[in-house]
Amino acid sequence: MTIKEILAKPSIGADYTIEGWVRTFRGNQFCAISDGTTIKTLQVVVDRDTTDESVLNRIKTGAAVVAKGTLIESQGAGQAVELQANSIEIVGDSDASSYPLQPKKHSLEFLREIAHLRFRTNTFGAIFRVRHAVSYAIHKFFNDKGFFYIHSPIITGSDAEGAGEMFQVTTLDLNDVPKTEEGQVNYKEDFFNKSTNLTVSGQLEAELAALALTKVYTFGPTFRAENSNTSRHLAEFWMIEPEVAFSDIHDNMDLAEDMLKYVISYCLEHCKDDIEFLHKRLENEEKSKPQAQRAPALIDKLKFCIENDFERVTYSEAIKILMNSKPNKKKKFQFVIEEWGADLQSEHERYLVEKHFKKPVILIDYPKEIKSFYMRQNDDGKTVAAMDILFPGIGEIVGGSQREERLDKLEQRMEEMHIPKEEMEWFLDTRRYGTCPHAGYGLGFERLVLFITGMSNIRDVIPFPRTPGNASI
Ligand code: 4AD
Ligand code: MG
Repeated sequence: MTIKEILAKPSIGADYTIEGWVRTFRGNQFCAISDGTTIKTLQVVVDRDTTDESVLNRIKTGAAVVAKGTLIESQGAGQAVELQANSIEIVGDSDASSYPLQPKKHSLEFLREIAHLRFRTNTFGAIFRVRHAVSYAIHKFFNDKGFFYIHSPIITGSDAEGAGEMFQVTTLDLNDVPKTEEGQVNYKEDFFNKSTNLTVSGQLEAELAALALTKVYTFGPTFRAENSNTSRHLAEFWMIEPEVAFSDIHDNMDLAEDMLKYVISYCLEHCKDDIEFLHKRLENEEKSKPQAQRAPALIDKLKFCIENDFERVTYSEAIKILMNSKPNKKKKFQFVIEEWGADLQSEHERYLVEKHFKKPVILIDYPKEIKSFYMRQNDDGKTVAAMDILFPGIGEIVGGSQREERLDKLEQRMEEMHIPKEEMEWFLDTRRYGTCPHAGYGLGFERLVLFITGMSNIRDVIPFPRTPGNASI
């Protein structure tokens, strides 16, 4: 049985076998074992008299062990039950003198350098159990609502989405690239007989499926080669992209808000121990900061998010608020907002959420110039039916829109934005054959995990982060 199962229903007097790794070993007798199924360890009491000296010497931090014994009520403080071992076997030794994880606090920066071992810490154990729960809850939410999970391709021959810089995929020999007569790379000789990239989004494919299956979502890895070295950006991240036929921007906002609230509630209910641990961890981190700069307590923040309606505001209203804000007037923003039409930076998004509305915000109706070609044009001729959800401490967590379902308007926008129509005939076909109003959005999976775990750097919520200059493990 796992430690989680034993501790959930401890049967005093029963015999158990547990398998796990040594966290600490005190007094040549008390061994804390973790098997990663829960934040909790199980205390194994080793019999000093009957256990071989040679075995005792090998019970070291990090060692893999199998312990057999009887579960008893604990004599000591700190745990309710413990395993009175009658045998302990060392399955894998650990050289404790060089083991990088010592029973003390390590910085997150240090742990990022040993990403292959950080799963073994309390913090990362909690994060990755929560990450799993977030993923499961998302699938459950959509499944329960009758959505179909569509696997959009990872390698794409289309670069029209324009969501970000792309990584090229090729089998050409980079030391001897075949050239055309004009001196360009001859992609006809490449694996797919054309130039291909890693996908930046599964949306366009999701639209194709939604216009037949009505309600679909994708959930897959997404790649962006932007050189943004921030605590919110990864070069490889996971994105969830629902797409719904016969749905407008308001249905889209309702769906996104319901989904976020559902997933957060699910985690509060099913990851209690881990979230309580992360809550205390954050509280300790924040103690060293001045009161005004401290992040809100994790569990309070999560509950607040579930219990309150998100504020729905138009871009135009938001611009007014920002132009009249203190940091804008005093030029405290790095990007001062001068006029309607300005693109919002994360500092502006966070001002709206954290200082002005003090709750999650959904911004709608953005200027068409700063949004993608596929967003539905509003009647004012200036804005599109876009919606971004902004979260405290995160900024943009969801970006979506109602789609332009009218062929003429879509083609006109593509021409204006120099998007090659001939490469997009497959996409335009949806507008030729049975087009209908439809809408969808993209949720940044790691940004949601960041929010729910209360961590502050996105590199700490994905097992092996890929960022500029970093893809070692
Ligand atoms: O706003 P984005 O670029 O939207 C799209 O890609 C649309 N095709 C989505 C759709 O309508 N189906 O990205 C969506 C979300 C962002 O709100 C953000 O949470 C996340 O993806 N995101 C990133 N997360 C981590 N690292 C990055 N580099 C990210 N870029 C976007
Ligand atoms: Mg966006």
